[in-house]
Amino acid sequence: MSEIKKIKDQYFSQLNKSLDQNKLNEIKTELFGKNGIITIKFKQLGSVPEEKRKNYASEINLLKNELQELILKKNEEILNQEINKKLKNDNIDITLPGRTYYTGKIHPVSQVIDEVTSIFSEIGFSVEEGPDIENEYYNFSALNTPENHPARDMHDTFYINHSKDLLLRTHTSPVQIRTMLKGKPPFKIIAPGRTYRHDSDQTHSPMFHQLEGLHIDKNINMGHLKGCLYYFVKKFFEVDKVKIRFRPSHFPFTEPSAEVDIGYKIQDGKIKIGEGDKWLEILGCGMVHPNVLKNVKVNPKKYQGYAFGVGIDRLAMLKYGINDLRAFFESDIRWLEFHGFDPLDIPTNYRGLSR
Ligand code: DAH
Repeated sequence: MSEIKKIKDQYFSQLNKSLDQNKLNEIKTELFGKNGIITIKFKQLGSVPEEKRKNYASEINLLKNELQELILKKNEEILNQEINKKLKNDNIDITLPGRTYYTGKIHPVSQVIDEVTSIFSEIGFSVEEGPDIENEYYNFSALNTPENHPARDMHDTFYINHSKDLLLRTHTSPVQIRTMLKGKPPFKIIAPGRTYRHDSDQTHSPMFHQLEGLHIDKNINMGHLKGCLYYFVKKFFEVDKVKIRFRPSHFPFTEPSAEVDIGYKIQDGKIKIGEGDKWLEILGCGMVHPNVLKNVKVNPKKYQGYAFGVGIDRLAMLKYGINDLRAFFESDIRWLEFHGFDPLDIPTNYRGLSR
């Protein structure tokens, strides 16, 4: 019996037995692997005497094709067997309810930070951030706040140490100082962030959020401040007409200073912004005090501008009709399910504070 015939008989009988995938792979390697029987036969072709070579070559070629065909057939057979086995053994209970999956929600505060940031970035403000733990200088002194100012009191401010030089920032205004110290005018920035005060009731929480705004350039006046805030309020509350009132006030870091109220009314138990004759305070603002500019080495004779500080949580309560501030920070997942936002609806190029 010729060698080729021997190989054929041997492997045909092996391949016709019932095999599993592993065994089939083994046979494949034995035949066609790097040192496989057929591979070697092809390699040896050159040493076959010329007159026999043609015949021999066509014989192995034929054998190769037959074996490959058989392997393919076997492969298919094994796959089918596996599928049939699965279908027979796996009981799929199609009456079982599908798995529910849970999508997280965006907290209203994060949502509002995103909205507000997006509105201001459209009119040229860039975003700055500062640390929650501040020193006394950035939080008070550089902002022209006198030594005996009530805000510095232990009853208002959380101090980190006894010497009172480290504290949890009471407002985002120190970011004004940090920004101006590290750069050169003009400045046009907003700074969202967490702030802390010794306060807790329905509308005050010891930790809350503010957004600071600062615009310093050569010819900035109070008209720019008003224009900017009108634009913001209309965009944020999505109303065309809005009643705004600038009420004279006092902040050590601005002169003159104002507090801004917006007009609203309650209709069918819901708050309507921009109509009615009630007023609600939403922010503090003013023209940056010359002393503040001097403290950061900006010449107040050449440069001036406005600043403002908005309560972000307040904006969220107003726009989305949430009436207890404390619930914002109680981490009740059911509250978040109800008041939170779909993650895919975030409107902007900016996503929340860095954590
Ligand atoms: N920092 C003030 C506060 O927390 C708010 C504020 C008022 C910020 C006037 C400003 C400003 O930048 O110009 O009550």
